[in-house]
Amino acid sequence: MNATISRFARGCACLLAAAACRTAPDAGAAARDRLNHQIFEMDIHSHVEPNRVRVSHVSLNLNIDFENKQLAGSATLTLDRRDPSAPLILDIQDLVIDKIISEMGFDLQYSIGAADPNLGSALNVGLMPHDTKITVFYHTTEKAGALQWLGPEQTAGGRRPFLFTQGQSIFTRSWIPLQDSPAVRITYDAVISAPPGLTPVMSARQQGAGPDGKYHFDMNLPIPPYLIALACGELKFLPISDRCGIWAEPPVADGARWEFEDSEKMVQAVERLFGKYRWGRYDILVLPPSFPFGGMENPTLTFATPTVLAGDKSLVSLVAHELAHSWSGNLVTNATWSDFWLNEGFTMYLEGRIMEEVYGAEHAKMEMQLGRADLEREMKELEPRDQILHVDLSGRHPDDGFTGIPYEKAVMFLRRLEALAGRGAFDKFLNHYFDSRAFQSITTDEFLKDLREQLLKENASIEKNININEWIYKPGLPADAPRVVSKALVEVDKALELYKDGKSLRDVNVKGWVTQQWQHFLTSLPGTIDAKGMDNLDGIFHFTESKNSEILGEWLRLAIKNSYQPAYGKLEEFLMNVGRRKFLKPLYSEFAKTEEGKRRGREIYKKARARYHPVAVSVIDKILE
Ligand code: BES
Ligand code: ZN
Repeated sequence: MNATISRFARGCACLLAAAACRTAPDAGAAARDRLNHQIFEMDIHSHVEPNRVRVSHVSLNLNIDFENKQLAGSATLTLDRRDPSAPLILDIQDLVIDKIISEMGFDLQYSIGAADPNLGSALNVGLMPHDTKITVFYHTTEKAGALQWLGPEQTAGGRRPFLFTQGQSIFTRSWIPLQDSPAVRITYDAVISAPPGLTPVMSARQQGAGPDGKYHFDMNLPIPPYLIALACGELKFLPISDRCGIWAEPPVADGARWEFEDSEKMVQAVERLFGKYRWGRYDILVLPPSFPFGGMENPTLTFATPTVLAGDKSLVSLVAHELAHSWSGNLVTNATWSDFWLNEGFTMYLEGRIMEEVYGAEHAKMEMQLGRADLEREMKELEPRDQILHVDLSGRHPDDGFTGIPYEKAVMFLRRLEALAGRGAFDKFLNHYFDSRAFQSITTDEFLKDLREQLLKENASIEKNININEWIYKPGLPADAPRVVSKALVEVDKALELYKDGKSLRDVNVKGWVTQQWQHFLTSLPGTIDAKGMDNLDGIFHFTESKNSEILGEWLRLAIKNSYQPAYGKLEEFLMNVGRRKFLKPLYSEFAKTEEGKRRGREIYKKARARYHPVAVSVIDKILE
């Protein structure tokens, strides 16, 4: 409520400022400024007023203190003072501000507003007339939502601790005081000190350690703040090509290098399709298993879960996905979290195209069919408001809108457009879109304007065959959502038929089945299977022993659903080690469906909770109440 009121008050201030601008001689600047105001009135997840004072660069100087689980040091902010009388407003959450000084070294006055549980506080800094650079001295706290501090026992090496940050969506403010809106792009550099033997890495150019033993980084392309990322642990680097390589703990490095060795091919494929890779290096950091996501597209350095190291390259579409974000998301970014579908939908589209280039159309089709099936299952549980691409997040944390909709529904919308326009015309549109919008943060409306001007105008018949308004602003899946049928999955359907007819699967030839076929098999089995049936399946296919996280995860869900005790040892081990939210959520949700399940789920969660990242904890807390 407070946030709403202050936003309204700010809205009035902006209108006044815009009115003043209208009398200014530079009409173009006035128009740009008005646009900025509109954008910031729309980012309901930030306190800042970048239309008045905008942070353009951050210089970090931080020490990683594993003992106290604390980052401490300073952030020097370079300011663009558009309204000389305005204070600087920053976003902070669970940060302790020690002092703020001007470039001349004078103490600056500041105040911290009331903390909103979702947004944190506004840090209001009084500026002197000539201040264009200020330094905030600060340290993080135990509550920092972006940070996960791992004990040695949670790492592959088992000897040293590990730290990583996760900024998306609005957690960067819990480790850096800045204007934490995806519409405020910034460049950054950093000097990081870490304990001996531990290597810090960042989403930036790695300049290596200086004579002082501190590590230097710089990112000279403007990025949204959620892409500033840091990790630190016992790390080793293995090259794949001149520009691609793996950062990982020594025990997993060789395996990861092999698993991800097609990265360079993927970069080349996407460059052929959608233009030059603009970020210099493309490296992948393999995190410990408690990393809460599959991957995170931190520029120059994708963060990845080790649960995709299946040993057969079958889960590398994750790399295609995070790499694709170098165009959709990092180059052209959602201006607000309601426009998140622009990031993920385009990325899913590019991911599919990369997979098709590198592994062939049949493989890509298999993943598309699974994606649609996942979405249809999830959709049944979603409220109508969460089935909308341009999602209404008022009063909510952006992560509350994190569903399959901005991924799978969005990609179907784009594939439908592709089918209507033809691939050639659609590719031309996309190339133009990434070029003309490069390094911009845009809204759904701006995308629609581009779409109309660049694609629909020249191909007038498209709009007659698609209801764009329904796709973007209405719940549900429109009737023209493309349906893909993969031959490899039809094979699986034959086995499922036998199973449904009560026939044995022992003689089905599953030798060449790939992960995606097993996923289709497991998600298509009937919900309820008795103990004998579960035993029988496990006896033939050894699911409980599977080393593949996707197959094991789905089997363990079935095990909970059907109280299949022989898998419970594995289940507990999995939940104690893996922190990837995509796996935790369905497993704990399955537990939560019965009283006995809740009891067992809570028992395991009590032991595992401290090992999960805050963004996973907040979700599981809710599931288990
Ligand atoms: N950017 C997302 C991860 C994310 C989204 C983090 C929203 C925080 C808030 C990343 O690109 C992603 O989509 N990861 C997926 C994997 C992908 C292959 C679909 C994941 O982590 O499951
Ligand atoms: Zn993504």
